[in-house]
Amino acid sequence: MNNKNVKELIESAKTAREKAFAPYSNFKVGAAVQTKSGKIFTGCNIENASYGLTMCAERVAIFKAISEGEKEFTNIAVVADTENLTPPCGPCRQIIWEFCGDVPVTFANLHGKTETLPIKELLPRAFDAKFLK
Ligand code: THU
Repeated sequence: MNNKNVKELIESAKTAREKAFAPYSNFKVGAAVQTKSGKIFTGCNIENASYGLTMCAERVAIFKAISEGEKEFTNIAVVADTENLTPPCGPCRQIIWEFCGDVPVTFANLHGKTETLPIKELLPRAFDAKFLK
């Protein structure tokens, strides 16, 4: 994964963030996931008056890709407007692990600050399909 790809992924997540439906938290998030073939799928958080139905940006991006038949991913980026970079929430970490495997996860803010960590570090000893056998 070269830097240009990561930059492009962050830009895609930033653009997706502008579409966030977050009237309750006012906390807008954008995400972009890249497939092995180089396609980018984006998502934003989508809230609901019944708060628990809220869907995070990361899951929207991944579910869009999965629903289009994508199966292999190289990396994912998450963008929020915070000084301390916003990492994916717990449920999103589980979903990233299930569908993307051990990919690098890049967090970024609107001012060029970024950090990248492997999902394995964000979700150590993950529960997954191996345990169901
Ligand atoms: N949110 C995301 O979309 N992704 C994250 O990784 C953290 C949280 C959203 C959910 C909710 O709409 C808002 O941010 C505040 O929690």
